Amino acid sequence: MTESSTTSTGLGFDLIKTDGMARRGRLSTAHGDVETPAFMPVGTVGTVKGMMPGSVRETGAQILLGNTYHLMLRPTAERVAQFGGLHKFMNWSGPILTDSGGFQVMSLSDLRTMNEDGVTFKSHLDGRRHHLTPERSMRIQHLLDSNVTMCLDECTPFPATHEVADKSMRMSMRWAQRSRDAFVERPGYGLFGIVQGGVYPDLRADSVKALTDIGFDGYAVGGLAVGEGQQMMFDVLDVTTPLLAADRPRYLMGVGRPGDIIGAVRRGVDMFDCVMPTRSGRTGQAFVRRGVLNIRNARHAHDPRPLDEDCRCPACREYSRGYLHHLFRAGEMLGPMLLTWHNLTYYQDLMADLRRAIEDGCFEQRAAELEAGLALGDH
Ligand code: GUN
Ligand code: ZN
Repeated sequence: MTESSTTSTGLGFDLIKTDGMARRGRLSTAHGDVETPAFMPVGTVGTVKGMMPGSVRETGAQILLGNTYHLMLRPTAERVAQFGGLHKFMNWSGPILTDSGGFQVMSLSDLRTMNEDGVTFKSHLDGRRHHLTPERSMRIQHLLDSNVTMCLDECTPFPATHEVADKSMRMSMRWAQRSRDAFVERPGYGLFGIVQGGVYPDLRADSVKALTDIGFDGYAVGGLAVGEGQQMMFDVLDVTTPLLAADRPRYLMGVGRPGDIIGAVRRGVDMFDCVMPTRSGRTGQAFVRRGVLNIRNARHAHDPRPLDEDCRCPACREYSRGYLHHLFRAGEMLGPMLLTWHNLTYYQDLMADLRRAIEDGCFEQRAAELEAGLALGDH
């Protein structure tokens, strides 16, 4: 089954194959294609920390995530535009998705005040006041030359009462309309709406309806992985993804651990981003086929084996656990670089594995095998 779809504006999405709810697709942008299900490494300030873009590409990554909030503060969107956009500025020629800023304002800045117009905040860098509106967020993401622009939204905190989640979601839907109105359409570029509504099925359904009526190139599920736990996140996906347009990509924001991703692909999600592989790599945590291990642990000091026997990355092909342990204990920067490379390779190989399983029509069997491996734990 191949359904090609390039409706609405500028992003193509082909649904190549489905297996249960799991989907194998291809997103087309002005800077190239993305095979889905896809994992987007986080390049917050215009760099995937500790990795050159060529190395990020070698891990298998096809699209990166950048952040409006960080880049608007430093070096500013205007500066990035002066250099020809974020792709040229950071030397990444592939597609880029940018988050809209609202989520980062709430988690990083001081003295935030939100009202119907937008959010006012003080920069975490120099304390200067800034104002972010849906229109300003669209303008900034345009200047960055983002292939996938995200609507400005409010990530409803957890827990939130039905009343609070309702009010928050309705404002995000009005911001979604304003984002849509301000977005400049171009071939190969698109805008994603963000579903909110907390853990309440009726609000999630209303949010999907509001966004679908406006019409977007893709639909993100926001407001998850904020402390509700994996089962509740899956429960929300169960009542949300079936309502989303089948012919448009679906993106679960800020997720997750390998088990979260497998469960979300099972529920029909196509795109993911998370700081987990990069951030934990910098602190010495490595994802391996049997779970996670911390390379700083003393038991790795004498170990001549690679991190992961089955991994193709340079950290595993060219170095021992004992050497990586030494780098971390000595505070050498090559340690975080190599573990980041390894973790990103692990994530990309996981996504390739899931894509292949969907193509082969054996998603459930493969997902169960991978989940059983993760459950074995550290070794
Ligand atoms: N990143 C993780 N969750 C969210 C969300 O709900 N909204 C936005 N904009 N970004 C996110
Ligand atoms: Zn490796």
